[in-house]
Amino acid sequence: MKALVLSGGRGTRLRPITHTGAKQLIPVANKPVLFYGLEAIVDAGIKDVGIVVGETKEEIKKAVSTGKKWGLRVTYIEQEVPLGLAHAVKISQEYLGDEPFVMYLGDNLIKEGITSLVREFKRKRPDALILLSRVKEPQRFGVAELEKGKIVRLTEKPKRPKSDLALVGIYMFDKNIFEAVNNIKPSFRKEYEITDAIQYLIDKKYKVRSHIIQGWWKDTGKVEDVLEANRLILEIIQTKIEGKVDGDSRVTGRVIIEKGAKIINSVIRGPAIIGRKSKIVNSYIGPFTSIYWGTTIKNSEIEHSIVLEETSIDSISGRINESLIGKGVSIFKTKAKPQSYRFTLGDRSRIEVI
Ligand code: DAU
Repeated sequence: MKALVLSGGRGTRLRPITHTGAKQLIPVANKPVLFYGLEAIVDAGIKDVGIVVGETKEEIKKAVSTGKKWGLRVTYIEQEVPLGLAHAVKISQEYLGDEPFVMYLGDNLIKEGITSLVREFKRKRPDALILLSRVKEPQRFGVAELEKGKIVRLTEKPKRPKSDLALVGIYMFDKNIFEAVNNIKPSFRKEYEITDAIQYLIDKKYKVRSHIIQGWWKDTGKVEDVLEANRLILEIIQTKIEGKVDGDSRVTGRVIIEKGAKIINSVIRGPAIIGRKSKIVNSYIGPFTSIYWGTTIKNSEIEHSIVLEETSIDSISGRINESLIGKGVSIFKTKAKPQSYRFTLGDRSRIEVI
């Protein structure tokens, strides 16, 4: 069995972060989202992975490289225009050949991994196995309608969803999916939808099974979802202090302090993670916060947030909360006159002040 990981697309809902980086590489608990998917694939015993890449291909290739560090053989498949998930399958036909495969959306995170699902697929040998999860806002996803436990209809982002069962971005297919992706038409959002391709399989009486997952699942397409995924992962970390914590600092709860990080006269209340070479000085880092590498936080308070690499936060009065802060950002109290707010913000930035 092979795996097909989708890491193209545009990430419009995560702008401005995705103006300068791939959404699949946003770190959750200091690890790119995409890596969780690759690890789940490795755990399921799969070695051959095709990664579909688009305009952020260089960045993805740099991060994943040959896949050797996971024991994977990675092949990159270039998708020139993000024409949809079914289109990504279509252009991967040559790579996948006749082998069954797991398709994994590179921005999805699932607690229980995929090992038992891959086993179920291999044992029962349906033409497709899809995963479903009960959600609060089904209109944001592909939605399934079941009758007596069997799927009868799948609709992509319905305005009036007929159920609360969302399609999780992890699917298993055999070679019949190629007939489907080659026979569907673009949707209302002008994409070739995998949802429509699976509906094609159902209509043609292919065997499509579904599995309702019980553990959590997150599609990290929006800021709130990235923060929530960060919270869920930090919830299960174990304390590991490899950096330096000085005698004036207090570290409580489950906290990871990576190599080369320095905590000076600060309070870190876990669950939290401080990345390598980051410096926390005279500050408070509260629960559910991930600070990536090379970042400095001085005389400030922050919680429930993610801060990316090489950013600097200095002397901010009031606590920073529920924030996703990008790479190389500077936020500091001005010494210049007149005392005023000065912003240099990228397109679609969002600032909330008190
Ligand atoms: O996350 C689950 C949802 O994923 C499902 O419930 C929906 O049925 C399914 O259509 C999909 O919806 P999204 O709108 O969230 O898909 P998105 O455009 O975010 O793309 C998912 C991943 O696939 C993302 O990592 C980018 C990548 N992608 C996307 C497109 C459209 C590609 O590699 N190529 C593409 O052409």
